[in-house]
Amino acid sequence: MKHLLSISQLTTTEITEILHDAEMFAKGDCRIQKGLGYAANLFFEPSTRTKSSFEMAERKIGLDIIPFEASTSSVQKGETLYDTVKTLEMIGVNVVVIRHPQNHFYLSLMENIHIPVINGGDGSGQHPTQCLLDLFTIQQEFGGFKGLEVAIVGDISHSRVARSNQEALNRLGAKVLFSGPHEWSDPSFQENGQYIELDEAVERADVVMMLRVQHERHGGSIGFSPDQYHLKYGLTADREKRMKKSSIIMHPAPVNRNVELADELVECKRSRIFKQIQNGVFTRMAVLKRALEF
Ligand code: CP
Repeated sequence: MKHLLSISQLTTTEITEILHDAEMFAKGDCRIQKGLGYAANLFFEPSTRTKSSFEMAERKIGLDIIPFEASTSSVQKGETLYDTVKTLEMIGVNVVVIRHPQNHFYLSLMENIHIPVINGGDGSGQHPTQCLLDLFTIQQEFGGFKGLEVAIVGDISHSRVARSNQEALNRLGAKVLFSGPHEWSDPSFQENGQYIELDEAVERADVVMMLRVQHERHGGSIGFSPDQYHLKYGLTADREKRMKKSSIIMHPAPVNRNVELADELVECKRSRIFKQIQNGVFTRMAVLKRALEF
């Protein structure tokens, strides 16, 4: 049994193994495993991609899904996360995927839960499976990470995607650049990368990774109109023209169109945004394979 709670817990070798398995799954090596059992996906925050692609990955590898909706569960009667997960374990669920607004929600589960827990995003903490699918997408494109410059741009301090990616990319030998509003920077990231102006980042980077403005974590106005943000911190059509010929655009999505990046760039030639979403299924199959050790 192997939890996946944070990208920090994975060794570089384990990351490489997951990316290798994701590649095998992407190539169609998808033999349904008999007797894997049951998965439950517990999403306490909204999700389109992570929840749906975990469901697809679970079905593809042969898990049955036990439906769970927080809004109609006993969570509404005050049940704790631990009691919910323990109940599912006792009912016979073999693996749980959890997204929760609280950073480190999983700490309350570690002592007495005996099935693998996969973090589908904890507050502004970590999003390890998004990180792995991003790594997989970059590896597909460039064959590796050493020497690449990856610019992570936007709402950095509220982003679990940025937190996971900056750490993993640094460990794998990429050079990480950060850009975005000063008030949304995270000083603790500076040990893994350098803050620079957006125009320089866009011209230098092999990968321009735009981040969603996390309105739900700002507690009110973000202090910019969408147009102001786009012009100052967004990937405008004009900035895209100054990217290197071989550079790609990524975004974890959902995209605030015409805020983080121009509407016309979402599916432009350089964009790998929908490729990332497709790769999410293969990567999550690989993560489930590791969790259930088959
Ligand atoms: N990228 C991501 O986590 O998307 P969802 O919120 O739709 O799952």
